[in-house]
Amino acid sequence: MRSILVLNPKGGCGKSTLATNIAGYFASEGRRVSLADCDPQQSSSDWLSMRPESAANIKRANVKAGKIDVPRRTEILVIDTPAALHGQKLANYARVSQTMVMPMMPSPLDIRAAERFIEELFSLRKLIDRKIKVATVANRVREDTIAAAKLENYLDKIKLPSGHKLPFITMLRATQNYIKAAERGLSIFEFAPAKTTYDREQWQPLLRWLSSVRSLPG
Ligand SMILES: Nc1ncnc2c1ncn2[C@@H]1O[C@H](COP(=O)(O)OP(=O)(O)O)[C@@H](O)[C@H]1O
Ligand SMILES: [Mg+2]
Repeated sequence: MRSILVLNPKGGCGKSTLATNIAGYFASEGRRVSLADCDPQQSSSDWLSMRPESAANIKRANVKAGKIDVPRRTEILVIDTPAALHGQKLANYARVSQTMVMPMMPSPLDIRAAERFIEELFSLRKLIDRKIKVATVANRVREDTIAAAKLENYLDKIKLPSGHKLPFITMLRATQNYIKAAERGLSIFEFAPAKTTYDREQWQPLLRWLSSVRSLPG
């Protein structure tokens, strides 16, 4: 089973948006997808409840006391996480994941917080006891701002404690498309094709990465 963890200690950066869109994409491609919502705010879970019968099926993976109950025959498990996930709890979710996607907003403070988070993740290596591939995605980017350009430069420089570069996969613009699709329990891949063309294009590098061995621990 493939497991993809979406996380970032900051709230509002797009964890639930990424988790639901990743799940919606793979489900619409015919994969057996389950979505685990580990956040008490239950945004992903609410999204799943709003999902129409006609949309590709996504199973709910129940979470109890930090343990994920994965539905049988799941091919791809997407895990949405709460903000401020640290220490043992962070290690518990990381331990069941192969790939981590970190959405980040284009602000220097958020980037600094993300950097500290990566450091924490490495300090938990012993607790996690498995290799994980991590990558970042810039989200809610207003392309007319210089912040976008700065973010791109900055993300390019973030180094893992191992000295390797942290892959920066793509930039997703700020658009109502995500909000409108989510209101209906859909991903942008299942919503208003003409309006979401540009957004789907922005997703391509992330989808390619997630579909390739580059996002799997070697
Ligand atoms: N690219 C985007 N464009 C516009 N709105 C977005 C985008 N990504 C997220 N949002 C909105 O921002 C809010 C926070 O996003 P969410 O995915 O819930 O973040 P998190 O799960 O990290 O707290 C939500 O209302 C969501 O619809
Ligand atoms: Mg959320």
